[in-house]
Amino acid sequence: MALFDCTCDAKSGSARALTFTTAHGDFHTPMFMPVGTSATVKGITPPQLRELKSQVVLANTYHLSQRPGEDVVAQAGGVHKFMNYDGPMLTDSGGFQIFSLADTRKLDDDGVTFRSIYDGSYVRWTPEENMRIQEALGADIAMQLDQCPPYPATREFVERAVDLSAMWARRCLAAHKRSDQTLFGIVQGGMNLDLRLESIRRLREIEDESLVAGGRRFGGFGIGGYSVGEDHETMFETLGQVARALPDDRPRYLMGVGNPTTLVRAVGEGVDMFDCVLPTRTARMGTAFSSQGRMNMRNAKYTRDFTPLDPECTCPTCQNHTRAYIRHLVKQDEMLGGILLSIHNLHYLLDLMRRAREAVLADAYAEFEAEWMASPAAKDY
Ligand code: GUN
Ligand code: ZN
Repeated sequence: MALFDCTCDAKSGSARALTFTTAHGDFHTPMFMPVGTSATVKGITPPQLRELKSQVVLANTYHLSQRPGEDVVAQAGGVHKFMNYDGPMLTDSGGFQIFSLADTRKLDDDGVTFRSIYDGSYVRWTPEENMRIQEALGADIAMQLDQCPPYPATREFVERAVDLSAMWARRCLAAHKRSDQTLFGIVQGGMNLDLRLESIRRLREIEDESLVAGGRRFGGFGIGGYSVGEDHETMFETLGQVARALPDDRPRYLMGVGNPTTLVRAVGEGVDMFDCVLPTRTARMGTAFSSQGRMNMRNAKYTRDFTPLDPECTCPTCQNHTRAYIRHLVKQDEMLGGILLSIHNLHYLLDLMRRAREAVLADAYAEFEAEWMASPAAKDY
């Protein structure tokens, strides 16, 4: 298989099982990607990521360009060498962080100026500058610079975000040169189906023009601008139609979504990839995903509970430790508490997506989804 080839191994309804080739190995979908914003999945070592059979790890251009700086990462030999993770990696452009973190930012057609959350200095990003930074970081997949509108937002505001994101997609695709890295375009459009479809039309047009000019194509497509405060049903009103309007020969990546039930339903709608801080962030706050629903490990009822966290789980945490011990660690703010729960929560989502893939390969996704929705785990949503 050539670099960035995408083959469809099976379909079941709209759910797909894809294999995608990168310079750091193939990955298989449906897939959850652990978030390693600053080139670390918080509390988890790269050998532990391997043990969890994690595939793609995410890092963030905003954070890494500020600290330690893309020049340091490049001098280390790129983000893989820097953190010593040799599996596939993806960098988000940081567009989302500019809009969610910065209190001061100024947008114009040509780019965005923002104040760093690290030292207050002014930073200017054009699409070309963002591509230069992501090429220096050297992940296998780069995301275009985009604008993610908040929710709720006026139609005019969302129209402008679609327009700007499309203009930037064109410039990112033209500027992106690194041959061992592929670029994903990003769909915006808020909760408006017509604007989402317009965003997709623009991405396809940009790609067609690029190919005619002897340029490159998008390796896949991010679906951005969801999970910004809307409720689940609002997202699902448009998500399936958006996913299926994208080219079916490449991955569809729903950005920033990590709720187990949302993942199961989104795969059924034709989405292939997901990332979210949810499993690791909730772990650090003392919450475990489980086959019985979410568990708050601070709860006094676990004080003398010497059973595994989740008897149905095969992760290292559940094989080796009791609820009582984890509760103790969490209550004492011991760092191992967050680490053990992060291992468990990551395993939970990685394994859920492995089982989703098995269901697609067996052409039994509808049954898998129905079984999930009827299970106690589906209720925390
Ligand atoms: N992460 C979650 N949502 C988004 C989005 O809309 N754009 C980008 N670049 N990253 C995201
Ligand atoms: Zn476990």
